[in-house]
Amino acid sequence: MDPRQVPIYRPYPDEVPWSLLPDGFAASDLNLMRVAKIDGEVIGVYSVEKVSALHHRIQALAVARRHRGQGLGRWLAGHAIGICESKGARLISAPPTASKLFVQLGFQPTADGYQLALSPE
Ligand SMILES: CC(C)(COP(=O)(O)OP(=O)(O)OC[C@H]1O[C@@H](n2cnc3c(N)ncnc32)[C@H](O)[C@@H]1OP(=O)(O)O)[C@@H](O)C(=O)NCCC(=O)NCCS
Repeated sequence: MDPRQVPIYRPYPDEVPWSLLPDGFAASDLNLMRVAKIDGEVIGVYSVEKVSALHHRIQALAVARRHRGQGLGRWLAGHAIGICESKGARLISAPPTASKLFVQLGFQPTADGYQLALSPE
C-alpha cells in the first residue's frame, strides 16, 4: 500500500470509527476529523481540536491494526498538521503516545506530550 494513494475524507456521522478511537473519546468538532478509506472501509482516523486562535491539538490518530507499519499513520499525521495550519494554527500539540512518529515530524517533547511550532512563511 502506498499511503499517499489512500484518500482521506471528512467522515459521514455514521462512519466515525469509534473502535479505533480511545475509550471515552468525544470529538469536540466532527468538522476537524478525517478518515482514511480503502474500498469504502475506514482504516485510519485523526481528530484535531481548536484550543485557541493560534493553537490546535491532535486529539486522536489511529490506524487499523492490520494496516499499521506502512506509513499511513505518518500520512494522516501530516494531513492533520496541514488542517491545523489551514485553520491558522501556529502551535500544534499532540498526546504523549507515538513519540517516534511525532518526533520524526518535527514535534518537540513537552511535559505532557509533544508540540510543533509553525513559523509563518
Ligand atoms: C500510532 C499509529 C497511528 C501509527 O500508525 P502506522 O500506520 O503504523 O505508522 P507509520 O507506519 O506511518 O509509522 C510512522 C513511524 O512511527 C513509528 N510508530 C508506529 N507506531 C508507533 C507507536 N505506536 N508508537 C511509537 N512509534 C510508532 C514507526 O516506527 C514509524 O517510524 P519508522 O518509519 O522510522 O519505522 C498506530 O500505531 C496506532 O493506531 N496506534 C494506536 C493509537 C495511538 O497510539 N495513537 C497515537 C496518537 S493518539
